[in-house]
Amino acid sequence: MRYVVLGRSGLLVSEVSLGTMTFGRETPEEESIRILERYLEAGGNFIDTANVYSRGVSESIIGRALKGKRESVVLATKVFFRMGEGIYECGANRKHIMRAVEESLKRLQTDYIDLYQIHCFDQVTPLEETFTTLTSLVEKGYIRYIGVSNYTGWQIMKAVALCERWGYPRPVSAQMQYSLVERNIEMEVIPACYDAGLSIMAWGPLGGGFLTGKYSPETLPKEGRIAHAEKDWEEAWERRATEKNFRTLEVLKKLATKYGKTVSQVALNWLLTKKDVIPILGVRTLAQLEDNLGCIGWRLEEEDVQLLDTVSAPEEVYPYRFIQWANRLVYRKEYGL
Ligand SMILES: NC(=O)c1ccc[n+]([C@@H]2O[C@H](COP(=O)([O-])OP(=O)(O)OC[C@H]3O[C@@H](n4cnc5c(N)ncnc54)[C@H](OP(=O)(O)O)[C@@H]3O)[C@@H](O)[C@H]2O)c1
Repeated sequence: MRYVVLGRSGLLVSEVSLGTMTFGRETPEEESIRILERYLEAGGNFIDTANVYSRGVSESIIGRALKGKRESVVLATKVFFRMGEGIYECGANRKHIMRAVEESLKRLQTDYIDLYQIHCFDQVTPLEETFTTLTSLVEKGYIRYIGVSNYTGWQIMKAVALCERWGYPRPVSAQMQYSLVERNIEMEVIPACYDAGLSIMAWGPLGGGFLTGKYSPETLPKEGRIAHAEKDWEEAWERRATEKNFRTLEVLKKLATKYGKTVSQVALNWLLTKKDVIPILGVRTLAQLEDNLGCIGWRLEEEDVQLLDTVSAPEEVYPYRFIQWANRLVYRKEYGL
């Protein structure tokens, strides 16, 4: 396992994180703990959860599993989604964050959270309120670092600018959906993260299971996460089962044979070739973790990365397309730019 620095911080984290959204949902507690222990044994130290995962159950399982091991891991959790029916039980406002952080600390059985992430951009709460609240949590020692998740490029830049203007601790990471079937963050979010020095934590690195190769074009799946995905959720079959995605799977299968790896391992390795990207491994079983851990310790050759880049390329849209074109036109190859 390699370790990388998270954003512009001094915090070292393993090159793959462990996602725990399945803990207490499709994965019972005993299996969840086996998964966590196997990940730690493989050298992983970066555990991602959220207060909303199984309405607190995922955090509680982690709290029990990490007894005596807390200091050696980097624990990341999130706040934003609804935790109850009341009007103050959601959002990135001060009232909810202050309560949510205390509840997460209790469930996680710890007195500090390493990375506290805003789970989604809040269109109601002023960013100033969210970031002054997060700053006070850092000062109180409840949290060590700040992260964002599901933000656009301008939202990231506004948050960073605000922190710089007032001397608040800056966010160090952006947790975003990123995989060979969802590359839209390449247009603006990734350039924003590079510019502002945030690491990208990639959620849904296997497209919810699509990029394992276990689905075929003809039929809607009967089993697996995608089979049960709601129609408006990111992993809905209608969103995944496109011609382009199946062409991408064909290339993945050929590369899996070439390298003697599984389709999942190749899909995850593609993410590891991208600068400052940390895939969050999401698994339902220990066997799936065993498979996915095989994505580390080797590298796709550059020409194969390009094959995957090309077959899965997102549609180019304005103004990004125009800016690329105009810059190619102005700064011609001969300038070496
Ligand atoms: N910030 C956010 O908004 C957000 C959103 C989603 C997730 N996350 C985080 O990111 C983590 C990972 O996301 P994700 O769960 O969507 O990741 P993913 O890797 O795209 O999908 C994981 C699912 O794919 C299937 N799978 C995984 N490995 C497999 C293998 N080797 N063979 C066969 N099937 C396999 C399993 O589902 P089945 O076996 O049921 O098919 C597994 O639950 C989560 O745990 C969570 O921590 C964050």
